[in-house]
Amino acid sequence: MCGIVGYIGDKNASDVLIKGLKRLEYRGYDSAGLALINGHLDIVKGKGKVLNLEKQVNSQKLTGKIGIGHTRWATHGEPNDVNSHPHLSQSGKIAVVHNGIIENYGALKKKLIEQGRTFHSETDTEIIAQLIEEIYENGSTHEFEKALQFALKQIVGTYGIAVVNSDEPDKIYVAKKGSPLLLGIGENEMFIASDASPIVEYTKKVIYLEDGEMAVVTKGNYEVKTIDDVTLTKEIHELALSLDAIEKAGYPHFMLKEIFEQPNSVADCLRGRLRLDNHTIQLGGLVDVMDQLVNAKRLVIAACGTSWHSGLVGEYLFEYLAKMPVEVEYASEFRYRDPLIGEGDVLLVISQSGETADTLAAMREAKAKGALVLGVCNVVGSTIARETDAGVYTHAGPEIGVASTKAFTAQVVVLTMIAIAVGQQRGTLDDAYAAKLIEELNRLPGKIKQILEQNESIKEMAKLFTYAPNFLYLGRTFNFPVALEGALKLKEISYIHAEGYPAAEMKHGPIALIDAMMPVVVVAATDHTNDKMISNIEEVKARKGRIIAVTNEENTEVKELSEFFISIPSTEDCLSPLLTVIPLQLLSYYIAVNRGCHVDQPRNLAKSVTVE
Ligand code: G6P
Repeated sequence: MCGIVGYIGDKNASDVLIKGLKRLEYRGYDSAGLALINGHLDIVKGKGKVLNLEKQVNSQKLTGKIGIGHTRWATHGEPNDVNSHPHLSQSGKIAVVHNGIIENYGALKKKLIEQGRTFHSETDTEIIAQLIEEIYENGSTHEFEKALQFALKQIVGTYGIAVVNSDEPDKIYVAKKGSPLLLGIGENEMFIASDASPIVEYTKKVIYLEDGEMAVVTKGNYEVKTIDDVTLTKEIHELALSLDAIEKAGYPHFMLKEIFEQPNSVADCLRGRLRLDNHTIQLGGLVDVMDQLVNAKRLVIAACGTSWHSGLVGEYLFEYLAKMPVEVEYASEFRYRDPLIGEGDVLLVISQSGETADTLAAMREAKAKGALVLGVCNVVGSTIARETDAGVYTHAGPEIGVASTKAFTAQVVVLTMIAIAVGQQRGTLDDAYAAKLIEELNRLPGKIKQILEQNESIKEMAKLFTYAPNFLYLGRTFNFPVALEGALKLKEISYIHAEGYPAAEMKHGPIALIDAMMPVVVVAATDHTNDKMISNIEEVKARKGRIIAVTNEENTEVKELSEFFISIPSTEDCLSPLLTVIPLQLLSYYIAVNRGCHVDQPRNLAKSVTVE
């Protein structure tokens, strides 16, 4: 979703900003723009890619030493040149870039129009620039910083903002409420960004702003304070992110790179946590809360998108291994219905980015009601990771492709480890089976590698289905969430309509859609439901649906019934989602590439959804 970058120092700011905006492209956007202070403000912005912006900047030969940039993902007002950020105040002296949503913008805009201000865009952001200027010129203060603070106090909603004022050509002001923002500290230069990716090649020293905080940034210096003007001393964090990790390393797309990274990302996630000598699981982040988790009255899992699918796998795992009742909630639904959760309950939130607005809100709601809140996050230092009571990092490394792949498998690995550890402590998991699962977890990276060796045949198969108008994905038990995830991957990046269904439930609706044009992907683990799955396959075949089966080599019955077959090494049924999902990721990837889709930045989608 929208991205912010800012620079102040001796480098050419337009180069740093354009490069930073390119690093932020993965978040998803529809327009881009920047403002440079050169006595006056130079503004370049417009609908479309950062590449277009770069061409405009180059053709105008724009340079500078201080500036702010933005990638926009439209919320208020369609994606067009006028609605792109930065937005200017009436005088053209103040420019603002903004992530988030101003909820009371209608009322503020009406008042500002009555005060004689003219608006040009349909955005909520333009009111920020106009409101600051109204206070600065005609209000209770002529100090810019105070005017900014007063304006922020009138704003209801969420924001991460960067503001420049041509009257103060050596400063960038930033403020945060709800949308992430960090400062990068360089040698006599400062960086601003909505995540670490634009900063990491220049400095590893960062400061994370918290809600209600702002900063005045000058060349080589910064002052952080609350918007009530209380000066703060902030901890400086060392970024663990490396530049290599956010580059494509020879792959045509980040998504393919990330799919192929899974043997390593799963191994990284397991590292130091599996004790093969005594068959236990070590999760340092949960040590202090393990008793509360083991004795929880209820365990609720909340997440969005792919993370919600991993939560569903988690539900099956916790119920199977730890015999704990679990509910899995869409974070957005959970938070808005006054959920019944309180002391003695545990809410576990799952988020790759650690910034998803709905997940964050669900977490805060449960925390306010007294529940213990645990997090499974990928991005170290993200808001959710910081605000949860305890948690486990997935250690999958940066995920840049909008469609989540390696984060999903790492989340499922973490949930499996937690479920085993809880099962062991609750006495619901016998030692022999726990040992078998731990040994098998350790073998998974090798098994994922074996599946990736089928890359070429999956690529060939994808050619046959490139123009299918619809897809159906069926799964049972642990692999029902994989069916949902397979369908989500396909629709996200190829724009083919796809539905995931519990295989038996197909008879209650989707079967009406099956004909000779319908590919049906069957994710068939060889568990006690295999016979039932075979009946479902027969039902599809009877209606001429085309079966693509993902199952074990030994599952000969399913193999013989299927038109296409992708083989998975044998594993424990409860671990099979970690294998069955891999070919589904590859299939979606190649279909999307064949259709000429923008795989890493699919239309309308954002990597990190920081608005509700
Ligand atoms: C967006 C992304 C998905 C992701 C979801 C939840 O929709 O495009 O890939 O699964 O947000 O994000 P989170 O960062 O909370 O896991």
